[in-house]
Amino acid sequence: AKVYLYLMDVFYKVFPDVSEVSNNEFISQSDNYDYYKYHPMPEITNWMTQIAKDHPDVVTIVDYGQTYEKRTISLLKIGLNSEAKKKAIWMDCGIHAREWIAPAFCQYFVKQILQTYKTDPKMEKMMMNMDFYVTPVLNVDGYMYSWQDNTTRLWRKNMSPGPSGCNCNGTDLNRNFNANWGTIGVSFDCCSNTFCGSSPISETEAQAVTYFVGSRKEDFLCFFTIHSYGQLLLVPYGHPNFTAPNYNELIEVGLAAADEIKKVHGTHYTVGTPPDVLYANSGSSRDWARQQGIPFSYTFELRDNGTFGFELPEDQIKPSCEEAYEGALYIITYAHDKTFSGAMNTAATALWTMLLAVVYCTFLKAYL
Ligand SMILES: *[C@@H]1O[C@H](CO)[C@@H](O)[C@H](O)[C@H]1NC(C)=O
Ligand SMILES: *[C@@H]1O[C@H](CO)[C@@H](O)[C@H](O)[C@H]1NC(C)=O
Ligand SMILES: *[C@@H]1O[C@H](CO)[C@@H](O)[C@H](O)[C@H]1NC(C)=O
Ligand SMILES: *[C@@H]1O[C@H](CO)[C@@H](O)[C@H](O)[C@H]1NC(C)=O
Ligand SMILES: [Zn+2]
Repeated sequence: AKVYLYLMDVFYKVFPDVSEVSNNEFISQSDNYDYYKYHPMPEITNWMTQIAKDHPDVVTIVDYGQTYEKRTISLLKIGLNSEAKKKAIWMDCGIHAREWIAPAFCQYFVKQILQTYKTDPKMEKMMMNMDFYVTPVLNVDGYMYSWQDNTTRLWRKNMSPGPSGCNCNGTDLNRNFNANWGTIGVSFDCCSNTFCGSSPISETEAQAVTYFVGSRKEDFLCFFTIHSYGQLLLVPYGHPNFTAPNYNELIEVGLAAADEIKKVHGTHYTVGTPPDVLYANSGSSRDWARQQGIPFSYTFELRDNGTFGFELPEDQIKPSCEEAYEGALYIITYAHDKTFSGAMNTAATALWTMLLAVVYCTFLKAYL
């Protein structure tokens, strides 16, 4: 009977419209969410709660840190239950407050993978082998400040006060990680937008990522940190004197991802290290992740390339997310297949499972 139930389950997965029709009539709350608008922090927090409620079998909320102003930093952990030891994908958005397209992308990304795995065996397999850890807004204080009024819209840093004797607030969190900290492309003036803090991981937000990812670093295959703007895929390192051991592969995979991005709406993304295609820097989370041994570490600089800059109009949210999703998916798939290449071809597995299910169901229906 157990085998029969299992096979019926597989059968209904393959032919979903045969299964309980009531399921199809169920519309979850998060289906009504408008992914093509910018949302203030309270709405994003509610959305996270709703997503977890709507997908209790695959999504959990993990609180893993606190901001300077004592707000909770949370991520969505997304994956299918599996007995085997899983690998993981990291994605954080909103480390820089004003880059509003980034949190919009993280939300879109979550929506997409949750929709896709139900019908796409490849995504189902990837969610079986890997957990996705997605932080929609890392710099919560800064993001909220950027929503305050039109004089704070372009705030970049977090909200912690400068060292004594300095009258400005805010550390650039993407200069605060412990990777060649303070050596190049930073400022020690606390009023600067690239103030790197008083010491490596002096900031609670950078600590949160460092401790969470660092404590399971061997699990992570990819580390994506999402920014705007510039239409770039940046690979380690920001420091011109160091080269990632897998630099060639990072560039090759990045270029192929840029091709996938271009196919969607024709948008051109440039691939390279920060000193090669932007400017040298140090203390970024991308560099830190690569130094920890996470092989595929990328910064995405989303649209645009200067026309609207950080104030990307809402009508560009959809195309920006659609194209960047394909780029991220390419890298994720590459990393997955490289790690799990021993597994039987997914399409063949699915076909066999389906045929077996059909045969068994027919047989059992006739004889029960
Ligand atoms: C900011 O908002 C104020 C009040 O709503 C308005 O008077 C002012 O023109 C705005 N400034 C800019 C730069 O948009
Ligand atoms: C810095 O933040 C504090 C609150 O933490 C605020 O009272 C102060 O006005 C801010 N300073 C500046 C220069 O914005
Ligand atoms: C890179 O190495 C060169 C040669 O050793 C040195 O002169 C330069 O200061 C280094 N750059 C940085 C940013 O440390
Ligand atoms: C900006 O991006 C658009 C769309 O991809 C492209 O047509 C244009 O050439 C780019 N401009 C620059 C200055 O890179
Ligand atoms: Zn940024």
